[in-house]
Amino acid sequence: MSGLRPFSWVAVWPEARLEVGRPHAIRLGGKKWFLFLFGDGELGFFEDRCPHRNFPLTQDGASSRDRITCGYHGWEFDSSGRCARIPGLVSNCKPVPLLRASVARYGGWVWVSPERDQSTIEFSSLPTSADPRPMHRSFLHFEIPSPMDLAIENLLDGFHTPYVHRGILRLEAKRVAMTAQARLVSPQECEIVYQGEQQGSGWISRIFERHPRTHTIARFRAPGTAILEFYNTQGVMVRFTTHFWSESETTSGAWTCVETPAGLIPHWLKEPLFFPFLKRVLKQDGRALTLQAKNIESFGGAKFVNTELDLIRPYLNHFLQGREAPPDRSIRFLL
Ligand code: FES
Ligand SMILES: [Fe+2]
Repeated sequence: MSGLRPFSWVAVWPEARLEVGRPHAIRLGGKKWFLFLFGDGELGFFEDRCPHRNFPLTQDGASSRDRITCGYHGWEFDSSGRCARIPGLVSNCKPVPLLRASVARYGGWVWVSPERDQSTIEFSSLPTSADPRPMHRSFLHFEIPSPMDLAIENLLDGFHTPYVHRGILRLEAKRVAMTAQARLVSPQECEIVYQGEQQGSGWISRIFERHPRTHTIARFRAPGTAILEFYNTQGVMVRFTTHFWSESETTSGAWTCVETPAGLIPHWLKEPLFFPFLKRVLKQDGRALTLQAKNIESFGGAKFVNTELDLIRPYLNHFLQGREAPPDRSIRFLL
């Protein structure tokens, strides 16, 4: 993960989306890995490379509840990660281990640490506000054609919405006066509180927002957790918790958990109702990020100009690149 400060633990998969006996491929820091949940509950995070002839274990395999099976010559690995069977070999099988890294479950997510540095485990509850109402949760997985910092900036920045998501999220002609307070919450975390927008000017808000909006909070916790919470007079209206990780210098991976309070609309109906809009918005972001990344590449690197509206960037530079922490700020603007 060159260019970025190394952090040991990153969230790479929702526990709710783990499937027994199926390798979940993850690119992390330029290397290929996979998560594997065995039938006995053992969860492993392994390098995606068979020790025999380096075939990818996530491809063409016939893995089962108890065994990871390579799709090339059929070597089988048990839940300790050791080779337990070599098809055709009549003598004893060599107990070659798969290369594995640290894995932990916390807060509904699977966290991994390829650095194998256990000393910096620092799990604490994610920085969301308490809402006593039960929530519905849905998950979305992404592969993003951009470095992680640009993907996070895109998610937490509202100022692209009247352009990239023109009409859906906001309208340029209907900007309203707003304020934002940005502050460092801990050495690992910042938050920006937006106020002044009673309802988004886009049609998604006209369809889905039933109560006046009170405020919106954008949070970031290093190394890769971005949270967007929209509040109305009832409490949290919708919360997006996204865990990003750096796949390589030019691409990132992410999982988003979308939470909405359990109410009149049943959970099974929410995805078909809401996700087509969400996916359209995400597609627009993906296009913008692709164009941006290609342009930066064609110019041989990034060269950015910032204004006070670029609220999240100084924090990303601080957390991910080790620059000085920005002072707490309060600004007025139109959005
Ligand atoms: S490469 Fe995996 S069994 Fe041969
Ligand atoms: Fe966007």
